Amino acid sequence: MKLFETAIKENIETEEQNKNNFLQDVIAGLRQHPKHLQSKYFYDQRGDTLFQEIMNLPEYYLTRCEMDIFENKTAEIAAGINAAQTPFDLIELGAGDASKSMHLLRYLKNELTDFRYMPIDISGNILSVLDEKLKKNIPGLDILCLEGEYFDMLYKAAQLSSRRKVILFLGSNIGNMELEEAYRFCFELRKNLNKGDIVMIGFDLKKEPNTILNAYNDAKGVTASFNLNLLERINKELKADFKVDKFEHYETYDPLSGACRSYLISLEDQKVSIDDAVFHFAENEAVYMEVSQKFSIEDTEKMAAQSGFTQVYSIKDSKEWFVDAFWKAV
Ligand code: AVI
Repeated sequence: MKLFETAIKENIETEEQNKNNFLQDVIAGLRQHPKHLQSKYFYDQRGDTLFQEIMNLPEYYLTRCEMDIFENKTAEIAAGINAAQTPFDLIELGAGDASKSMHLLRYLKNELTDFRYMPIDISGNILSVLDEKLKKNIPGLDILCLEGEYFDMLYKAAQLSSRRKVILFLGSNIGNMELEEAYRFCFELRKNLNKGDIVMIGFDLKKEPNTILNAYNDAKGVTASFNLNLLERINKELKADFKVDKFEHYETYDPLSGACRSYLISLEDQKVSIDDAVFHFAENEAVYMEVSQKFSIEDTEKMAAQSGFTQVYSIKDSKEWFVDAFWKAV
């Protein structure tokens, strides 16, 4: 078979596989008690747009705080990753549009630092847009995009060069994992690195509880639409019949554990069909949607130590609401 035809066939197979995984995850999640839908499925085209809107909301401080660090403390970040020392591969997990890391890339390039930028993303489309944007904005930038799952691509990066690795995992994305899962993720990350490699992770800090709650319960209801959009997506892609207006977004924040959790509440006793399955939702039954975990500095140090790293440095934004922590693999 010709190369082009093989590529198309593989693409169709991956799409089918993705759809099948989505269906299996949704069905398994709704069979659990309490019912659960995974927030990694929020991001279809409409979900991406809504998340962009969330990042511009007055209540959603996280993006602005981390941007403050990247814009105003770039030299400190460069010091945190030992940029002036040996050459390195700068690998960003889930790079998106790299709007924050671009400040660092420009700084490093101006300092004539010897590094290669390797953004990893599951979406080839996002990567090709990013590749073009960065090549235009930072002429001469050494960039190699890696399309795929984080750990598969980290393995590939290790095969490609023996330079030390600096990993960026920004935006408090780690907060969208249950704590146990986050510990496992960091342990797995460590297994893919060598002693002395550095990880820079963005953590949203525990703070005045209403500030956190409002960030996920905005006045315009964009976060509500973001959650409800997953039901729309299931309807569209999995032949389901959720009546989206019969569910309501509900947010909680527990200042003791630091867990901010979102739910969709069924407004009436109802049945929903998905593919061949039927699910019953009692009136006021909650479907658990997402955790956005908040941390103390001690929490981040403990997570580092328990997954094979040591926290060597940290940078907070000017409000001290967000921290980028630097972990060294030991
Ligand atoms: C992507 N992630 C870090 C966001 C967060 O803050 O947990 C997702 C989000 N969910 C609702 N608002 C934003």
